[in-house]
Amino acid sequence: MEDELNRLAQEARNTLDAVAEPAELEAFRVRFLGRKGLFSTVMRRLGTVSPEDRPRLGQLANTVKQGIEKLYEEKKQALAGASAPTKAAEDLSLPGRHIPFGKLHPVTQVMEEICAIFEGMGFAVAEGPDVELDHYNFAALNIPEHHPARAMHDTFYVSDSILLRTHTSPMQARIMEAQEPPLRYIAPGKVYRCDSDITHTPMFHQVEGFLVDRRVSFADLKGVLTIFTRRMFDDDLALRFRPSFFPFTEPSAEVDIACVICGGKGCRVCKRTGWLEILGAGLIDPEVLKMVNYDPDAYSGFAFGLGVERIAMLKYGIDDIRLFYENDLRFLGQF
Ligand code: PHE
Repeated sequence: MEDELNRLAQEARNTLDAVAEPAELEAFRVRFLGRKGLFSTVMRRLGTVSPEDRPRLGQLANTVKQGIEKLYEEKKQALAGASAPTKAAEDLSLPGRHIPFGKLHPVTQVMEEICAIFEGMGFAVAEGPDVELDHYNFAALNIPEHHPARAMHDTFYVSDSILLRTHTSPMQARIMEAQEPPLRYIAPGKVYRCDSDITHTPMFHQVEGFLVDRRVSFADLKGVLTIFTRRMFDDDLALRFRPSFFPFTEPSAEVDIACVICGGKGCRVCKRTGWLEILGAGLIDPEVLKMVNYDPDAYSGFAFGLGVERIAMLKYGIDDIRLFYENDLRFLGQF
């Protein structure tokens, strides 16, 4: 039996040497190491040898079998290591592995672009809290308690005097209160209104801008906004100032640009008017200046607030604002 074991071991080693692929290795395992394989058959016969020889032969059989199992495992590793990935890694002519990397959200990109244009005109950037006092969001902007303008804001209240800001205009009051003119600021950030449909999300972004100095006029406002819209959209883009009302500006205007979809001929997006509204603006109301202890006879200023999603939609021809917030990478990856 000893000879038989040694012969079997030799045969197993020779067979394993010749194995070149996984299917052959599996055939080897079944033939030699399987439950009905050659080693098992020999070891079952241990029961028939004399009791004196049994321990020695048993030990020998185990050692031989374990040796073959070890060789089998080594072969298995070698075959796995030689398969595709390693070969590919060695083939320097193959294309590199694609590494996906993130990008800024389209709203962030457009916001940064807007800020860069105003920074180019000398405006400084300031940021303020999303959770705001009623005072700055309304009262300091000439919207006292029970004023009907509050109803338009669909405010999320945190408590009686604390709310989520409904616009970035509170930054006008905060900055004017803390500094003396001349001031030239933009304030980008998130704003919140309890509203949701294809053109409204409960959270959206605005960029506030304002300038306070001596003898600031509506012409200055028109000049700054014209330069902005032309840089943002198109060099010969037409724009129109429509009379409007805000409690914190007087006179007030809403600014439209010629529809970027149809070029002003009239289409579904501009509701056949040829115009698209992109911002609210005006000269800062003297009442607002008085509340921060500025002398309205010495100083004047203009302010504007623009909707970032709105501008992003027009720039990229997107017709549903909610796409920005569904986090679908197929949408976001296009920008
Ligand atoms: N805060 C106004 C709004 O959100 C926009 C605005 C800003 C109007 C500054 C005039 C001046 O609707």
